[in-house]
Amino acid sequence: MLRKLIAGNWKMNGLKADGVALARDLGIRYAEQEDPAFDMLLCPPATLISTVGEAIAGSGLLLGGQDCHAAASGAHTGDTAAEMLADLGCTHVIVGHSERRTNHGEIDLAVAEKANAAHRAGLVSIICIGETESERDAGDALTVCSRQIAGSVPAGATSDNMVIAYEPVWAIGTGRTPTNADVAEVHAHIRAELSRKVSDPDNVRILYGGSVKGSNAGELMAVPNVDGALVGGASLKADEFWTIAQASV
Ligand code: PGA
Repeated sequence: MLRKLIAGNWKMNGLKADGVALARDLGIRYAEQEDPAFDMLLCPPATLISTVGEAIAGSGLLLGGQDCHAAASGAHTGDTAAEMLADLGCTHVIVGHSERRTNHGEIDLAVAEKANAAHRAGLVSIICIGETESERDAGDALTVCSRQIAGSVPAGATSDNMVIAYEPVWAIGTGRTPTNADVAEVHAHIRAELSRKVSDPDNVRILYGGSVKGSNAGELMAVPNVDGALVGGASLKADEFWTIAQASV
């Protein structure tokens, strides 16, 4: 069993005061653990990375970005380089989230370039994949995941510098989740597909994401090949996010 990673994707939420309060609260809880059995990662919006980094300093919590540009620097107004995230103390960055794929037209190749940039900067990429509702209804969930792994995982990815997050698009922010059997099927499939990309697929952490909350985390995190959670809405409430983390072990 791999050590679970419980990652909070705050998305475009939080002003300074809320972000600091949430981060401090979680940092204190994590630091109080004798020997925490899980890793916890906070991915605040870009505006709060520095502030949250200060709030969690010394707690053992990990810090990450929600996106990065493929280039290390240059004329890319509004974008953030992976090196800049690393400079702020980030260890991880989410790439290819379905909201970026949809809202910003990111295709697999762009996601692979971003993941590659993350690795270049010494960050762990969290590469998001997952089918839409119509793809699932058409029976294409596994095919879509295969295609996204083939296209979004760059050469040079390893079990050390990459995490996969399986997030069915129809489960994100909807309160709906796949059955445990469906999660088990997709995660096993993802692990098998990863053997085309890395020499030790068994060591790649595969997170489940999409409407994870305190009340369903226990069963979802117990599904084989589920090595943690990528949590959106429920990561904005300290009690709820902490409950998810505790239910994961
Ligand atoms: P959700 O989002 O937990 O709010 O469904 C998950 C995600 O988009 O990472």
